[in-house]
Amino acid sequence: MRNPIIAGNWKMHKTIAEAKAFISEIQGEIKGTDVEVVLCAPFTLLRDMKLASEGTNIKLGAQNMHFEEKGAYTGEVSVLHLKEIGIDYVIIGHSERRQYFGETDESVNRKLLKAIGHGIRPILCVGETLEEREAGSTKDKVKLQVEKAFVGVPGESAADVVVAYEPIWAIGTGRSATSSDANEVIEYIRSIVEDLYSSEVSEKVRIQYGGSVNPDNVEQIMNEADIDGALVGGASLEPSSFLELVNF
Ligand code: G3P
Repeated sequence: MRNPIIAGNWKMHKTIAEAKAFISEIQGEIKGTDVEVVLCAPFTLLRDMKLASEGTNIKLGAQNMHFEEKGAYTGEVSVLHLKEIGIDYVIIGHSERRQYFGETDESVNRKLLKAIGHGIRPILCVGETLEEREAGSTKDKVKLQVEKAFVGVPGESAADVVVAYEPIWAIGTGRSATSSDANEVIEYIRSIVEDLYSSEVSEKVRIQYGGSVNPDNVEQIMNEADIDGALVGGASLEPSSFLELVNF
């Protein structure tokens, strides 16, 4: 059985004080949940959030990292920095990074390998644009993204990768994919992982849906057979709304 994973992606929001208040508000409410709860926050918040979340079942994620461990890369943060402060997850290849910061399938692959090599679990984002969906090429797009991301990932580590299927047209638009459409693509992604590895791996790998998930649609999304979680932007910013997502 794959245990569900609900992750908030705060993007470029919140201060340290707000993040700490968020943690203290949700921690008592999520004690004992079977859902894995992850908060992906801006770099400058993470160390304080780590201290504030000690002894809770909240896991922390970064939203990006560099593929090199150290060097002359002004402004970048490496896997070693994340490891040093005990970060559990890192989002890799979010469409906003692909779109605005030149992230490519190759850099995504290098980051994925680096994160795995240091025991930080990647949340690998894939998804199609509206034009690609309308042209009927959704599956071709995600197939390519998944295959390129997993190049060189050994079988024993592949199931540690969480894949997030985020159709770009559904991000921040209020226009979520229908749960059955999302499930169809996610089932397909699972079949790609099976082709790359084995059914044992594909049955273990967790695949989230992301794109306008909110307290009203989360239950239906989570009820789909192949959807193991959600990666949530806007609706993860308020503690009450985030708790509704975790308690789908
Ligand atoms: O990574 C989460 C994301 O891109 C979806 O954002 O605001 O549509 O939930 P949102």
